[in-house]
Amino acid sequence: MVPGNQREFGKAVVDLLDADTLFSGLPDKLQVWMSHGDRVEAPPPGFQILARSGGIISALADESRRMWGVQFHPEVVHTHHGREILENFLTRVCGCRRDWTMSSFIESSTRMISERLGGGRAICGLSGGVDSSVAALLVHKAIGDRLTCVFVDNGVLRKNEFADVLATFRDRLHLPVRGVDAADRFLSRLAGVEDPEQKRKIIGEEFIRVFEEEAGKLPGVRFLVQGTLYPDVIESTSVRGPSAVIKSHHNVGGLPAQIGLEIVEPLRELFKDEVRRVALELGLDERFVYRHPFPGPGLAVRTIGGITPDRLALLREADAIVQEEIDREGLTRELWQAFAVLLPVRSVGVMGDDRTYENVCALRAVTSLDGMTADWARLPYSVLERISNRIVNEVRGINRVVYDITSKPPGTIEWE
Ligand code: XMP
Repeated sequence: MVPGNQREFGKAVVDLLDADTLFSGLPDKLQVWMSHGDRVEAPPPGFQILARSGGIISALADESRRMWGVQFHPEVVHTHHGREILENFLTRVCGCRRDWTMSSFIESSTRMISERLGGGRAICGLSGGVDSSVAALLVHKAIGDRLTCVFVDNGVLRKNEFADVLATFRDRLHLPVRGVDAADRFLSRLAGVEDPEQKRKIIGEEFIRVFEEEAGKLPGVRFLVQGTLYPDVIESTSVRGPSAVIKSHHNVGGLPAQIGLEIVEPLRELFKDEVRRVALELGLDERFVYRHPFPGPGLAVRTIGGITPDRLALLREADAIVQEEIDREGLTRELWQAFAVLLPVRSVGVMGDDRTYENVCALRAVTSLDGMTADWARLPYSVLERISNRIVNEVRGINRVVYDITSKPPGTIEWE
């Protein structure tokens, strides 16, 4: 194995040389997703090359020792037939049986939660997204009213988010929920902070403090329920391997060491699409289930540079327009996320007879299956045009909109 002199990122086509166990039933040529700097120069003794991409060895195996290796990412949506490759691996190589279903997941996790929590009380931090909602519903199923949900206004939520989420939980999902307005507290700690990881740390810590305070008001709360997913675990803490910590997502890596509550994470082993299936199975309506993910540090990591109430207000208005237009076009299901980012850049414009010198906003829209990799969305020009016109006309303080055409990798979805 040698460090390649050229990194290979993004789409590549591989030629399958041998339809062995792993590639059984697949076409001879496959589009795959690459993300590597190293490459295999020569196969180790006993290994046979199964696939190549140009001069690069992209799959090999030693069947007698039951070892297979691929250079590309079979798990990402841009790798065609990736799911079949993984299925072949699990069923043909490992001999797994397909007896796992969403209902069995709900049953077994509810049972595990009841056992772990015993007669204890739990508190759950809702984010308004599907992950924490499903985590709360599962725990509610297990321990009923011994669960209290808390939804915190951290000052970096989207427009109307606080009221809307509280109403959804109380009226539609019938979960016991307390709304805590802590916006001033978060914003005063964030004032003057520009570094993204520091923003995350501050928001993560402050969240925990608020939870601890709320928990303190309820007798006997010992557990904190979180909607952490598997990608958060992989990207935040290098769990089983040497991958670098990309971003310390607040709900995992950003936790302070002493939080005073035991963490319960019922979705820790699931990917987003699986959580959505659990949500549907639990009876959540589709509109809610297919909401786009919204990061814990919210608009703080979309206001690039320093955060002020004025800048947040600009971003909130621009973002509301993006959400409205994407929703109106029926594009929500096709996209993983679509949002606005406020840049620390001003540009000159002209409106009527006046010169403007205002902020620039970036529009980010991506397709993805699990957030681990993503491609920028080919939004129709008419949609881009309407979003841009509306933002520049309706949001006083933004006079230019640009579209982000970077995939992940090498970019990340959020700008910070
Ligand atoms: P990136 O930007 O790392 O994002 O490509 C991948 C997915 O994770 C979300 N994200 C976060 N979620 N806390 C969260 O709860 C965070 O700090 C955070 N940062 C990114 C992002 O919106 C995308 O869906």
